[in-house]
Amino acid sequence: MRVDGPRAPWEGRRVVLGVTGGIAAYKVVQVARDLTRLGAAVDVVMTRAAREFVRPLSFEGVTGRAVYTDPFAADGAAVHIRLGREADVVCVAPATADVLARAADGRSDDLLATTLLATRAPVLLCPAMNDRMWAHPAVQDNARRCEALGYTLVGPDQGALAVGEADGPGRLVEPGEIVARVGRALGAAGPLAGRRVLVTAGPTREAVDPVRYLGNRSSGRMGYALAEAAWLAGADVTLVSGPSSLPAPVGVTTHRVETAREMLEAVREPVTRADVVIYAAAVADFRPSDPADAKMKRRELDGPPTVPLTANPDISVESRPLRKEGAVAVGFALETHDLLDHARAKLEEKGFDLLVANDAGDPEAGFEVETNRVTLLEPRAEPTALPVLTKERVADRIVGRAAELLRGREHT
Ligand code: C5P
Repeated sequence: MRVDGPRAPWEGRRVVLGVTGGIAAYKVVQVARDLTRLGAAVDVVMTRAAREFVRPLSFEGVTGRAVYTDPFAADGAAVHIRLGREADVVCVAPATADVLARAADGRSDDLLATTLLATRAPVLLCPAMNDRMWAHPAVQDNARRCEALGYTLVGPDQGALAVGEADGPGRLVEPGEIVARVGRALGAAGPLAGRRVLVTAGPTREAVDPVRYLGNRSSGRMGYALAEAAWLAGADVTLVSGPSSLPAPVGVTTHRVETAREMLEAVREPVTRADVVIYAAAVADFRPSDPADAKMKRRELDGPPTVPLTANPDISVESRPLRKEGAVAVGFALETHDLLDHARAKLEEKGFDLLVANDAGDPEAGFEVETNRVTLLEPRAEPTALPVLTKERVADRIVGRAAELLRGREHT
C-alpha cells in the first residue's frame, strides 16, 4: 500500500498499539508510523520491559501523541477504560511469552493488561520470541487460551531471529503485514466485508522479439488504487497486474503477468469466485503474430521491418461467462472523442454494470497522472460526472458504487 500521498483512509479511527519487551519492538516503530500516516490516531501503550528496548520518545515522534506507560498517571486512573473504549482495534506487537500468559489469565497487573480487559474492540496479538520458547507447551497453551478468548494471533513467522537461525516459528511478522491486519480489523465493518473482489490493472507487454515489446502508457495507478480501496472496504482482493513499477498493495493477493494471454489465464480462477470484477487493465488489443526468437538486427533487415499483428483476447468478454451469477462487473473506457457515446456502446456491448469513462485528451485524467476526472455510466441511468479527484478518491467512489449495486441485487 502507498503510505505517502493524500489518502488517509483511517482518519478518525483509533488504534491502541501495545508494545511489550522483545527485541522486535524496534520494528513496531515503523508500524506506528505507517498507521499514523494512514490517518489513524495511534495510542501506544508500553510495558516496563518494552521501555528497556525502545524509548517512548521514538513512538511519540512518529505518532505525535503521548505514549502511555503508567496505569497511575495523572491524567486519570481510568485511562485504561478510556483507551479500551475508544479503540477500534487493539494490537499487541511484539507480544512476548509473558504478555500472552497474562492475557490468557486475564491479569490486570499493568496498563496494557488492564486495557485488554477493558476493551471490546478486536484484539490482535503478534507473538515474537525465541523459537524454542514459542514451542514450549506452556506458551502454546497460553496462545490457544488467548484464541479461545477471541483474540486473533498474527504469526509468528519462521525466519532469522535475534540469536541464531530458528528451527521453527518465533519471528515477528513483517511490519507491513501487521499494518495490513490492523487495516483488515478496521475494515471488518466495511461495505465489502466478506466479499471477494478481482481487479485487473496496468498495461500488457507483447513481445516483438526477446528485447522489444508493444505496450502502452498505463502506470497501473488507477487499478492499484481500486484494489486498495476494495481492501479498505473489507473485501478479499485479488489483483492481476501487468508490468507496473508500483509495489503490491498490502493485504491484496497480487499476481504479476506480462501479456494479455497470461492475464486471461490468471483471471480464470479468481473470476469465478468474485462478487465484484473490475477490469481496469489497459490490455493491448493486438500482439505480434510471430515474435522473433532472436533480436532483430537493423543491418540484417532489408529496410523497415513489418510486424504482423493478431488480435488479443478481450479479458472482460472471455471471462464474462465465467463470472458468478449476480457479480457486479466494472469496465473502463478511455476515449479521445465522443466519449459518452463510445462509453455507452462499450457498456452495452461488454455487459458491464458500471462503466468508468475517461477523456484521453484531458491533462488531469488518464495515463501517468495522479488525478482523474471520470464519468460513471450505468445501464438505464443518466451519467454521473465526478470532479477532478486523486485516483484514490476516484477509486473510493467506484468501489462504493459497486458495493451499492451488489447490495441492491441481493435485495431484489
Ligand atoms: O480497450 P477497450 O476500451 O475496449 O476496454 C474497455 C474495457 O475492456 C476495459 O475495462 C478493459 O480493461 C477491458 N478490456 C479487456 N481486455 C481487452 C481489452 C479491454 O478486459 N483485451
